Amino acid sequence: MSHKIGVIGGDGIGPEVIAEALKVVRATGVSLDTVDYDLGGARYLRDGTILPDSVLDEWRGLDALLLGAVGTPDVPPGVIERGLLLKMRFDLDLYINQRPFLDADAGIDMVVIRENTEGPYVGEGGALRRGTPHEVATQGSVNTRMGVERCVRYAFDLAESRSRKHLTLVHKTNVLTFAGDLWQRTFDEVAADHAGVGTAYNHVDAACIYFVQDPQRYDVIVTDNLFGDILTDLGGAVSGGIGFASSGNLNPARTGPSMFEPVHGSAPDIAGQAKANPTAAVLSAAMMLDFLGEADAAARIRKACADPSAQTGSTSQVGDALAARV
Ligand code: IPM
Ligand code: MN
Repeated sequence: MSHKIGVIGGDGIGPEVIAEALKVVRATGVSLDTVDYDLGGARYLRDGTILPDSVLDEWRGLDALLLGAVGTPDVPPGVIERGLLLKMRFDLDLYINQRPFLDADAGIDMVVIRENTEGPYVGEGGALRRGTPHEVATQGSVNTRMGVERCVRYAFDLAESRSRKHLTLVHKTNVLTFAGDLWQRTFDEVAADHAGVGTAYNHVDAACIYFVQDPQRYDVIVTDNLFGDILTDLGGAVSGGIGFASSGNLNPARTGPSMFEPVHGSAPDIAGQAKANPTAAVLSAAMMLDFLGEADAAARIRKACADPSAQTGSTSQVGDALAARV
């Protein structure tokens, strides 16, 4: 059986790392039927296209989406991020952003579950009297009981399936008292249904210290959209580097395709030089295989990525070395 995958290479190093991810997946023997979508900053600069509704409709019929990275310095901030990446997350209801961090040598094995459709990312707010001395800007954070609960439930279920069975809520309940109260109460209520899972709470600023000084303490972490964005860059930095950080934007209800992408961006400064490490994209493709029921191929890819001897040379040399090991 072949899986129908939409591929968005995107900008900068995106297409380079995605080519290697597809190479490694195909080397496992899993069959992919791919459809390429030329989207991102470069396409926008060429003809103004960001994400047509017709493309979104096509995607609804696919098994998964694999994305490299989008964004170019020549496009104002937000145009591609909001119009493409966040539109995908919102319109396809990819409400879980799952970001694992594994560094066996350092003893790090944690997964951040980032809420992916709410918080300050919704685009609530606006500007008044822009460009004047009396300028005002507001940017609200939206937290719904439904959105928080489905995220927290997913995180508890994941923690329950792992050997350490531990879940930490990360928030800022001492300052963001309205949103924090909703998150904390929801967390406590769902915890009552999961007696086998140990729990903890950390303020996000303290969690940053623990990420640097003692990341081994964490098993599963659940947090809101913006805290999760920041914490997962830090998670990458402390567990082998952002070149290894993978993610799945999941629709666990499976009402449509889920989307898999490396945590890193398009890195225009190193694009076209064959310098980018494709491992984050390869590991994201492994998450995709897991989600598609190809657990054996996914495990072989993860094992290959953990072998330091594969990690030398150019983008395609690393891809070849990984492909040879699966
Ligand atoms: C990420 C990225 C995105 C985010 C940007 C590009 C909109 O930083 O996936 O972490 O903030 O979610
Ligand atoms: Mn980010």
